[in-house]
Amino acid sequence: MEDLVVELGERSYPIIIKKGLIDEVNLEIQKVFKGKKIFILTDKNVGSHYGDRIKSCLINSGYEVKLMELEPGEETKAFSTLPLIYNELLDFKITRSDLIITLGGGVIGDLGGFVASTFLRGVDFVQMPTSLLAQVDSSVGGKVAVDLERGKNLVGSFYHPKLVLIDPNVLETLSERFFRDGMAEVIKYGCIKDKEFFYFLKNMKNKEEVMHNIEKIIHRCCFIKKCVVENDEKDTGERMLLNFGHTLGHAIETYYNFKKFTHGEAVAIGMYEISKIAENKGLTDQGVSEQIKDILMQYNLPYEVEIEESSEILDTIALDKKNIDNVLKVVLLKGIGESYLEKTNVEFFS
Ligand SMILES: NC(=O)c1ccc[n+]([C@@H]2O[C@H](COP(=O)([O-])OP(=O)(O)OC[C@H]3O[C@@H](n4cnc5c(N)ncnc54)[C@H](O)[C@@H]3O)[C@@H](O)[C@H]2O)c1
Repeated sequence: MEDLVVELGERSYPIIIKKGLIDEVNLEIQKVFKGKKIFILTDKNVGSHYGDRIKSCLINSGYEVKLMELEPGEETKAFSTLPLIYNELLDFKITRSDLIITLGGGVIGDLGGFVASTFLRGVDFVQMPTSLLAQVDSSVGGKVAVDLERGKNLVGSFYHPKLVLIDPNVLETLSERFFRDGMAEVIKYGCIKDKEFFYFLKNMKNKEEVMHNIEKIIHRCCFIKKCVVENDEKDTGERMLLNFGHTLGHAIETYYNFKKFTHGEAVAIGMYEISKIAENKGLTDQGVSEQIKDILMQYNLPYEVEIEESSEILDTIALDKKNIDNVLKVVLLKGIGESYLEKTNVEFFS
């Protein structure tokens, strides 16, 4: 599979997607890192499968390596976790010429990336995403963040990795639910930018066929994401299209206190529901929402939810950080593969 490069001038970096990469990370790391110490941040699930394997691979190449394993889950992406990690980095005597590797899903990538961007005013880091969501989305584009008690991703920065290393084989140990979760984001790319890719996904018969084509699928998603990021690094225009389904999805996640639905499941519902609303308003071609519903069902993703207190959903949308002076930019589809930003307000959803 041809390597991708996120072209951002001096901050450009490659994305390497290859089955079996995990056992030859040393070869790729050597190309971008000339220092001695490597700090690997992971969570206990991912660490138990791959932590020692990667550590040994790097130690055998002469690096001094420390592995830190955190509790899995969004709770770990808290501002309050930061001092624990900074202290480990200090104990290991990491300097600005050393390296941090984030090995895990989006939680570890976002948290570890934020640590890398702030510790000693910036240490180089490499993303090794292991969940499908992280492989197709969060590891590319340089958004790093932690959560505050009052909301997700409220403290963060744009800080790009030196390299993204994606081994699709690690998805074999990912739970079914998180695999489906990532598929919602994969489907999103087809919806917003690539009709052919949407139908390619629609023609998959089962998970086996998806896994057989997984390198190609991840490659396509990363290609779309990197093109969008190159055009709009700081998320003021085109990059917002990546939020298709997210305004409503976010409100649904919040309504259920992040317990009932995963992020991908909530986005799946958001993509269908917003397309249905937009179809009724004549802003999306007829039949689009039905096609989205069909593909979501095919991948065992939800597409609707009964909400008793819909006014609470509207209140949450009103508080969305993208709602500025009651102007809300929502992402709509004209047709499959064709997305645009529509300036509206919260009443759009009522
Ligand atoms: N930075 C961005 O651009 C961006 C984009 C989208 C989402 N995000 C963030 O990503 C986070 C969600 O990421 P996520 O869904 O990957 O969650 P996650 O990191 O919690 O991973 C999901 C679960 O899968 C486990 N896991 C991951 N890889 C595994 C593997 N190969 N084998 C076995 N278990 C594995 C993890 O331990 C965890 O329990 C959120 O915090 C969200 O805000 C960031």
